[in-house]
Amino acid sequence: MANSARPVALVTGASSGIGAAFVHALAARGNDLVIVARDGARLEETAERLEKEHGAAVEVLAVDLTKATGLKLVEARLESSDPPVDLLVNNAGFGTFGKLYELRRDVEEREIRLNVMAVMRLCHAVLPGMVQRARGGVINVSSVAAYQPTPANATYGATKAFVNSFTHALSEELRGTGVKAMVLCPGFTRTEFQERAGVDSSAVPSGLWQQPEQVVDAALRSYDRGRSVCVPGPLNKAGAAFSSALPAVLSRKVAGAVIRRSE
Ligand SMILES: NC(=O)c1ccc[n+]([C@@H]2O[C@H](COP(=O)([O-])OP(=O)(O)OC[C@H]3O[C@@H](n4cnc5c(N)ncnc54)[C@H](OP(=O)(O)O)[C@@H]3O)[C@@H](O)[C@H]2O)c1
Repeated sequence: MANSARPVALVTGASSGIGAAFVHALAARGNDLVIVARDGARLEETAERLEKEHGAAVEVLAVDLTKATGLKLVEARLESSDPPVDLLVNNAGFGTFGKLYELRRDVEEREIRLNVMAVMRLCHAVLPGMVQRARGGVINVSSVAAYQPTPANATYGATKAFVNSFTHALSEELRGTGVKAMVLCPGFTRTEFQERAGVDSSAVPSGLWQQPEQVVDAALRSYDRGRSVCVPGPLNKAGAAFSSALPAVLSRKVAGAVIRRSE
């Protein structure tokens, strides 16, 4: 059980990649943690390290957020004030790559359950208490893929476009409440993401990659400043600005041409 003198952060997808970098950075800043993912053994190892290296109290919730029972368990923790969660990081997510008509329908549906439904439901569970306490915030992890239609990963890009639109809207709804919402839009980041998606990313130039720690450092600095969006790294910022400036009918053609060249 967490020590109520320290702020508590709940991070989904904490067992690897960006989520693991979040929990280490947040523990180093003096947070207690609630860590969520499916792989209980990896979470227990992470908890042990966080306790040993940073003196953090850590609760482990080993659940599948695409399943109703898993989602309910995390919602219940977010609704509890024993002690209250001050920061929710909706980070768990995965991508599928290929043409929609060649992909499995059940996996596409699971992607929407995790990347979209869980994000909305966990925000819905945590925000009433935060608004009542006039304190706290949410970081929703999206992607630069949110900034244009993404042929060859149509569902993934669309889920992240939802996360961007949803979080921008929340940050306006929360104006004046003392509670913040920020969307984080990383580009290529060295995690298990590509491998899990079965994508060969060896042709991606090394200059385009970031380490998860760099992404999290940029995210927490932006969050501290009260920003509603963080696109980490100058190349990602430029790419997002370029895509945002184009109408979807043009940005989708650019994205389609890039994909066809790499096939
Ligand atoms: N890496 C990139 O290039 C990149 C770029 C832009 C955006 N992103 C976004 O960054 C976020 C984090 O991804 P990552 O790059 O750190 O990838 P990752 O290393 O594959 O981590 C994904 C995390 O999500 C958890 N997860 C997956 N399915 C889950 C489920 N059904 N229920 C609960 N937890 C689940 C995984 O743990 P378990 O397997 O133990 O459940 C893992 O902890 C994602 O939202 C992704 O879309 C990544």
